[in-house]
Amino acid sequence: MATEQQQRATPHDTIDEAPRLLIPGVTRRESLLEYRSRGGYAPEGWAWSPEELRDLIAASGLRGRGGAAFPTGRKWHGVAAQPAPRVVLVNAAESEPASAKDRTLLLRRPHLVLEGALLAARAIEAREIVLYLHATATEVRASLELALRELRAEGARMPHVRIVTAPPSYVAGESSAAVRRANGGPAKPTFKPPRPSERGVGNRPTLVQNVETLANVPLIARHGPSWLRDVGSPSLPGTLLVTLSGAVNRPGVYEVPSGVPLRHIVEDLGGGVIGGASIQAMLVGGYFAGWLPPEALEQGARLEPESLRPWGVSVGSGAIVVVPDWICGLAQAAWLMRFFADESAEQCGTCLYGTRAMADVFSKLLRGTASQSECDRLRLWAERMLPGRGACGHLDGAAIAARTALEVFADDIKRHALGGGCGRPETVILPGFEGGVLDVAA
Ligand SMILES: Cc1cc2nc3c(=O)[nH]c(=O)nc-3n(C[C@H](O)[C@H](O)[C@H](O)COP(=O)(O)O)c2cc1C
Ligand code: SF4
Repeated sequence: MATEQQQRATPHDTIDEAPRLLIPGVTRRESLLEYRSRGGYAPEGWAWSPEELRDLIAASGLRGRGGAAFPTGRKWHGVAAQPAPRVVLVNAAESEPASAKDRTLLLRRPHLVLEGALLAARAIEAREIVLYLHATATEVRASLELALRELRAEGARMPHVRIVTAPPSYVAGESSAAVRRANGGPAKPTFKPPRPSERGVGNRPTLVQNVETLANVPLIARHGPSWLRDVGSPSLPGTLLVTLSGAVNRPGVYEVPSGVPLRHIVEDLGGGVIGGASIQAMLVGGYFAGWLPPEALEQGARLEPESLRPWGVSVGSGAIVVVPDWICGLAQAAWLMRFFADESAEQCGTCLYGTRAMADVFSKLLRGTASQSECDRLRLWAERMLPGRGACGHLDGAAIAARTALEVFADDIKRHALGGGCGRPETVILPGFEGGVLDVAA
């Protein structure tokens, strides 16, 4: 007789047996020798001309895994259309506190990411590669430096590679902040235009690409575009690395086909909620992708853009935080709004004042002291006044967090408005920057 899990299974619930980005059961670092034995740096992946490589990536439907899901092929063609010389910037900042996927890849499979960066450099004919790493990620740095030494020991010819470190701030991972840092400035976003693709590192056209995005590249180059399209949802082909944290029994980084039901991620991979508690809410896609109510899981919400859109959230960077019903949900939402205010780069007036104003109203909602006009203003800011007004996506993220929190925690807000809170502990379980970055790689 079929188990409950099998009955719920759909084609998206099972992952191909063939190794994808992570190798099932292998958690230690893969050496150059091991990577080669799995087909790494194979000549067939390098037989393409730069233009063919760009077309190949476009045909695969690969989209960025850094948060915005921008079509990678289109980005490569765009940068290649700019005057040479060009630069590739590998965005390994992983400034999203709820995410550990990029560092998991770099610790376990540094050559997969490096080969992706080298192929990207070939595709856009770049002379320089910048590895942009989180300043505290010393093991990641060691893993990459060893990979570079391994390649150089073989006499590999490569573009110039240099490492730049990102300070521990949320906006440091934004593409223009990364470029500014690589140019010796502060890791703060710049106004666009010009975009990094037009004027980036050393004023040269720069391709900024997330680690997980690049990890897909060597495999597409080796196996063709259908390798990616064979798995996952048509709008976001391939697998996604999900960082699952919060109140689940088995937090960790999991590789799943896009389009997998969120329920499968939480229950089957994460082992369900600690203590058998119910889910109150989930932060899906990372801090700037939005809050999801438990009904979404019951209604079969999937990790793909179309399924999440009606709930106002996105796939983002694939980080999921599960909030159980026995703690105060509004306290989580209020903490997140304060995080956005504290992490504003304070360059755009609208962001500086907008994030603070929203955080202040959420604090009042938590204390039950917000007036009706303050609530109305908060909704207006989150829905209409603030989105699209900052130089970077930070303000948009804050607005999405506020908008979705007002829906998801509506009952909590009513209870708190009566005074005395909701009676549940206000312990915040969202990972923050204090204590370093999240470490849940299984
Ligand atoms: C506030 C903010 C923080 C970001 N942090 C990161 C990050 O840590 N790592 C990352 O790859 N992208 C981050 N991004 C997205 C980058 O700006 C950029 O879109 C991405 O690196 C492009 O790579 P992709 O197309 O491969 O996703 C952030 C964006 C914003 C608005
Ligand atoms: S939107 Fe906010 S975080 Fe982004 S550049 Fe402006 S002030 Fe900085």
